[in-house]
Amino acid sequence: MCGIVGAIADRDVVPLLIDGLKRLEYRGYDSAGIAILGDTCVRRVRRTGRVAEMESAALAESFVSPLGIGHTRWATHGGVTENNAHPHISHGELALVHNGIIENHEQQRARLQALGYEFESQTDTEVVAHLIHHYRAQGASLLQALQTAVRDLDGAYAIAVIDQRDPSRMVAARMGCPLLVGLGDGENFVASDVSAIVSSTRRVIFLEEGDTAELTREGVAVFDTDGTPVQREEHLSDVSLASLELGPYRHFMQKEIHEQPRAIADTIEALMGVGGFAPELFGADAAEVLRDVDSVQILACGTSYYAGLTARYWIEGMVGIPCAVEVASEYRYRTAVANPRQLIVTISQSGETLDTMEALKYAKSLGHARTLSICNVPESAIPRASRLVYHTRAGAEIGVASTKAFTTQLVALFTLTATLAKLRGKLAALQEAELLEALRHLPGSVQHALNLEPQIAVWAERFSPRQHALFLGRGVHYPIALEGALKLKEISYIHAEAYPAGELKHGPLALVDKDMPVVVIAPNDRLLEKVKSNMQEVRARGGELFVFTDADSQFGESEGVHVIRTPRHVGVLSPIVHTIPVQLLAYHTALARGTDVDKPRNLAKSVTVE
Ligand code: G6P
Repeated sequence: MCGIVGAIADRDVVPLLIDGLKRLEYRGYDSAGIAILGDTCVRRVRRTGRVAEMESAALAESFVSPLGIGHTRWATHGGVTENNAHPHISHGELALVHNGIIENHEQQRARLQALGYEFESQTDTEVVAHLIHHYRAQGASLLQALQTAVRDLDGAYAIAVIDQRDPSRMVAARMGCPLLVGLGDGENFVASDVSAIVSSTRRVIFLEEGDTAELTREGVAVFDTDGTPVQREEHLSDVSLASLELGPYRHFMQKEIHEQPRAIADTIEALMGVGGFAPELFGADAAEVLRDVDSVQILACGTSYYAGLTARYWIEGMVGIPCAVEVASEYRYRTAVANPRQLIVTISQSGETLDTMEALKYAKSLGHARTLSICNVPESAIPRASRLVYHTRAGAEIGVASTKAFTTQLVALFTLTATLAKLRGKLAALQEAELLEALRHLPGSVQHALNLEPQIAVWAERFSPRQHALFLGRGVHYPIALEGALKLKEISYIHAEAYPAGELKHGPLALVDKDMPVVVIAPNDRLLEKVKSNMQEVRARGGELFVFTDADSQFGESEGVHVIRTPRHVGVLSPIVHTIPVQLLAYHTALARGTDVDKPRNLAKSVTVE
């Protein structure tokens, strides 16, 4: 969703701001803008649509400045208009960009209107610009005015501010939304996401909740909620420029699908390093936290939720303790029953998803102390709020539709399952060695599945004119059917639904006719015969079947039954391998339909609002 970048330097920062905003585009947005110092007042350019359009306007107006802020906006309060786009300006002097939502904006707006401030947008953000201006007018410095203003705000924010009257600094604040400071040589930066500044610096400080910061060219000062100066640790970001570039691929989604063997290999590296399923993989005190857990509650959204659904089959099957999986936005608003021995597992690619974060906070408020986060972005909010962390090493994921994050989450969840099983005496040494061996071979098996791309692209041609599709799976492959349907609807806009194959006859069978393609995930597991019967139900109604299976299953193509096989059945890890074909099917179908694969309409990569 919304993105922030800001820079103070001895050089022109406009190209840095534009480059930063382009690197934030993947998060999803509908308008963009920058503000810089002018001769007498702050100058601003804003456009709805793509950053490139705003860039052309900035070039045409000869925007040049050593200090500026930029923003990509994903509309919440107020429609997608130029007036609602950030930066917002107060009295031509003070410009501000904001991520998050100010909940008491109506009261603040009324208060400021009574003081004579006029509003030009419908946003919650504009009040913050005027509020800071109001405190400035009473004699406060820019930093003091920001620190006083944020005390008046309820809600979540990451903010960056510049002021024409104080050209030597930029100030920033964070509460509930990520914001980091980038440290350069004689220049400094703020950004909501490290990718926005990685072409200038990889040295970063992650601001903490309630922090404010003052940036000059020479240095950065950080203050806590009370305004006391604090030292925050400096990190060297491992996000590389290469991971943010397309390289030879047409889309980031295609690149990220193909990166999965490497991403999985990187994710299991630590496990292979310790040579077994050891609690330390999850954090220093993990043995104590995990040893006597009696149940698991998984909380997540979107694709991460489907990773959780897959893990339930593993955890209940191999560990023998109950595992519940719930969409975070549901859990956070219901009366959940607290159990101090329950392990709360949050799964999030970004580590920023608001509903998942709030579900975690709610669980903690109920007294849950055993919390584990499986996350792809270190130092993001959700792992920071969790006692234990497993870092998936998928690398930066840019495509809105999650791919390599999902398969690495599955690897992490499988590692958790085996670790819990071992702690409970349910994993003999021989079995452990077998599972480690299976994981070691997993990148190769995933590569074999990727090699099926040409065959899947042929299927995609047949899917592209369709308006609907059904996905079926049973057992641990049912969540993969769900993920396949989600991928297809997200990026090709074909209406796709997934059902447990056994449930077909209780309703969805009524939809089946010759125009309804039915995708079946049917590996050679113990439920294969059951799935075959369900496939017969489809064929008997004239439905066309597209079956993903493996070389070990004994059924072939026939009229109306198309089959693509992965080379061999990989046992308990089969759902990971069977994810690849459904990703490729969605990708090639979207390609054939000409949709915007990496930035599907209406969707955002990091959903930081409710
Ligand atoms: C959005 C993204 C999805 C993602 C979901 C959860 O909807 O478009 O790809 O699965 O958020 O995000 P998270 O970062 O928490 O995994």
